[in-house]
Amino acid sequence: MAYGFGPHLCVGMHMARAELKVAVEEVLTAMEDIAVEDPAAVVEEIGTTWALTHLPLTFTPRRPGGR
Ligand code: HEM
Repeated sequence: MAYGFGPHLCVGMHMARAELKVAVEEVLTAMEDIAVEDPAAVVEEIGTTWALTHLPLTFTPRRPGGR
């Protein structure tokens, strides 16, 4: 539903998904040991689109350029 539907379906959805994939990969690289702090505290919302409204995480930030 995030990209609409029918005749006005988002024409940029493939590009948007490709960009999002790169962004998520970069975040996961920068936060190598990312983990959900407390799975019981995760709050999900199912409206027009599915979303996590509360997602407590722990991670160690990587130093910039320190790949
Ligand atoms: C996360 C990113 C994006 C989201 C969530 C999104 C979402 C949407 C949605 C919901 C619609 C339908 C609107 C309606 O029904 O009236 C739409 C239409 C459209 N989007 Fe996106 N979009 C995104 C990125 C992009 C990008 C990157 C482009 C262009 C490079 C783009 C170009 C368009 C165009 C031209 C339409 C109109 C299509 C039409 O009316 O036939 N969008 N988008």
